[in-house]
Amino acid sequence: MNEMQKHSISILKVFAILSLFALTMFATENQRVVDELASPMPEIPLKKAMGDKLYNDAINSGEYNYVGNSKCRLCHRNFFVGRKNDPHDHAMESLIPSKNEKNSHCLTCHSTGHRIPSGFVDMEKTPRLSNVQCEGCHGPGSVHIELAKDKTKNDAKGFTGGGFLAGAGNLQVLKDICASCHTKRWNNSYHDFNKAYNSYKKADPNAAGN
Ligand code: HEC
Ligand code: HEC
Ligand code: HEC
Ligand code: HEC
Repeated sequence: MNEMQKHSISILKVFAILSLFALTMFATENQRVVDELASPMPEIPLKKAMGDKLYNDAINSGEYNYVGNSKCRLCHRNFFVGRKNDPHDHAMESLIPSKNEKNSHCLTCHSTGHRIPSGFVDMEKTPRLSNVQCEGCHGPGSVHIELAKDKTKNDAKGFTGGGFLAGAGNLQVLKDICASCHTKRWNNSYHDFNKAYNSYKKADPNAAGN
C-alpha cells in the first residue's frame, strides 16, 4: 500500500465516522418529533406559567391582545438589534423539515400566542405573529401599549412599563414561561438556564444560547 492509498483510506474512515455522527444526530432529532406527536396536545405555555385562574381571568377580560413585533419596534428599536440571531425568531423554520409547519401541536411552542384568543392562527390569517416574538415571552402587549402611550404623553421618565402578564411585575411568570416551552423533551437550553435568561435582560440578544 503506497502513501496515496493510505491517505485515501483514512479520508474514507473520517468520512464514514462523520456520516454516522450526522445520521445519529438526525435520528435523535426525529425521535423527539415522533415522541412529541405521540404525546397529548401540550398545555398552552402562558396558561401553564400563570396557572388556570390568573390566566382565565386575564384572557376572559378581553383586554389582553397580541399586537405583534411591528408595534413593539415603534418604541423598543434597540431590542431588535441582533434579533435575527435569536433562535426564537426562526422557530417556525424548524417545523418545515418534518412538514409540521401547520400542526397546531407544534405551533403551540413555535409561534406567538397560538390557541389563545388574538394569538397566532396560521400564516394566512396572522403572519405578523409567526415565530416566538417579544410577546411569546412577555405575553400579549395591548395593555402595556395603552399604559405606555398615556404615560409618554405626561411623564415618560416616571413610567415603569407594566401591563404585561409576564414582565417586570411578574418575574416568576416570566421564568415559568421559559420552562413551559422548554420542557424535559425540549430542554437543550438548560445547560445554563441563568445565562440564557440573563441574556434577555439587555437589548442585544446575540448572547442567547450556551
Ligand atoms: C408607545 C411606546 C411603547 C410601545 C409601543 C411598547 N413599549 Fe414597552 N415600554 C415602553 C416604555 C416607555 C417602557 C418603560 C421603559 C423604562 O422604564 O425604562 C417600556 C417597558 C417595557 C418592558 C419592561 C417593563 C415590564 O413590565 O416588563 C417590556 C418587557 C416591554 N416594554 C416590552 C414591550 C413589548 C413586548 C412591546 C410590544 C408588544 C412594547 N413593549 C411596546 C414603551 C413602549
Ligand atoms: C425568550 C424570551 C424573551 C423574548 C423573546 C423577549 N424578551 Fe424581553 N425580556 C425577557 C427577560 C427574561 C427579561 C428580563 C426580566 C428580568 O428583569 O428578570 C426581559 C426584559 C425586557 C425588557 C426590560 C429591560 C430592562 O431594562 O428592564 C424590555 C424592554 C424587553 N424585555 C423588551 C422586549 C422586546 C421589545 C422584545 C422583542 C424584540 C423582547 N423583549 C423579547 C425575555 C424575553
Ligand atoms: C412544549 C413546547 C414545544 C412543542 C410542543 C414543540 N416544540 Fe420544538 N422546540 C421547543 C423548544 C423549547 C426547542 C428549543 C430547545 C431544544 O431544541 O431542545 C425546540 C426545538 C425544536 C427543533 C430543533 C431546532 C434546531 O434547529 O435545533 C425542532 C426540529 C423542533 N423543535 C420541531 C418540533 C416539531 C416538529 C414539533 C411538533 C411535532 C415541536 N417541535 C413541538 C419547544 C417545543
Ligand atoms: C413560546 C415558547 C417559548 C418560550 C416562552 C421560550 N422559548 Fe426559548 N425556544 C423556543 C423554541 C421553539 C426554540 C427553538 C427555536 C428553533 O431553533 O426552532 C427556543 C430556543 C431557545 C434557545 C436556543 C436553543 C437552546 O435550547 O439552546 C434558548 C437559549 C432559549 N430558547 C432560551 C429561552 C429562555 C431563557 C426563555 C425565557 C426567558 C425562553 N427561551 C422562552 C420556545 C420558547
